[in-house]
Amino acid sequence: MANPRKIIIDTDPGQDDAAAIMLAFGSPEELEVLGITTVAGNVPLSYTSRNARIICELCGKTDTKVFAGADKPIARPLVTAEHVHGKTGLDGPELDEPTMPLQAGHAVDFIIETLRNEPEGTVTLCTLGPLTNIGLAFQKAPDIIGRVRELVMMGGGFSEGGNITPAAEFNIYVDPEAADIVLRSGVPVVMMPLDVTHKLLTLKSRVKRMAEIGTRPAIAMVEMLEFFERFDIEKYGSDGGPLHDPTVVAYLLKPELFKGRVCNVEIEVKSELTVGMTVVDWWHVTDRKRNATVMRDVDADGFFDLLIDRFARI
Ligand code: BDR
Ligand code: CA
Repeated sequence: MANPRKIIIDTDPGQDDAAAIMLAFGSPEELEVLGITTVAGNVPLSYTSRNARIICELCGKTDTKVFAGADKPIARPLVTAEHVHGKTGLDGPELDEPTMPLQAGHAVDFIIETLRNEPEGTVTLCTLGPLTNIGLAFQKAPDIIGRVRELVMMGGGFSEGGNITPAAEFNIYVDPEAADIVLRSGVPVVMMPLDVTHKLLTLKSRVKRMAEIGTRPAIAMVEMLEFFERFDIEKYGSDGGPLHDPTVVAYLLKPELFKGRVCNVEIEVKSELTVGMTVVDWWHVTDRKRNATVMRDVDADGFFDLLIDRFARI
């Protein structure tokens, strides 16, 4: 078996972020989590930093390094999503306050130092929230950009439109300037937009299979998902909520589950009406640089099989 792939998870947990982190923890043969960096997004930074540690403790991964990062976007006031995730961001189950400490130092510096210290082209950035920490790291230390193996992000939307405005997906909308820095940086980007995540519904049959695992982390996840899906079920009239962030980790484990295309993606940063929109040149109608692999399709059953298999290993 090859060495596990080294990843940094940058996140704003969030119930679906929690599912992504758990998927990574359930896959130690393939993935080595060098650290978790938190960012303000779904809820303020104090909660996302708390929540990341709660998930580590829930999974018995108390040796994971968790660093707090940016408490607001690069150039705008913070927009949060308690209407989806609840006040704490992990509403649903009863969870103990974490006892493991946050690491000293800022997440941005951890990202920079890790990329400088690890061999070039070996560290993958997995981003599950607004791209503030990564944008700041690239601004502060441009030398690290060429050292990143790949950046896999949950963000954006193409034919699905947006979920926080008609044009914009939440992670990009919260910090469009950071997303713009990342997409112009030249780093190899894989993008998991709403077009993919809206095909991954937490159907009752799937959640039931998770509950049947019967462990504390699996049951807590089921309770998180039951809380998290209520908003989208009402909004979309679907049979379950879309599961966004675990797509990033699933891609690292089984890229063959996803189908997409390399194309140009630009971020709208100026227009008030469409700020945060990901403008995807799917049909290559411009000669703008092809800077991202944009996924649009997924094998949903294969994805949930993977998730359930790995949750059972925690
Ligand atoms: C994204 O926004 C957050 O609410 C979720 O955690 C996910 O990262 C979906 O638009
Ligand atoms: Ca998230």
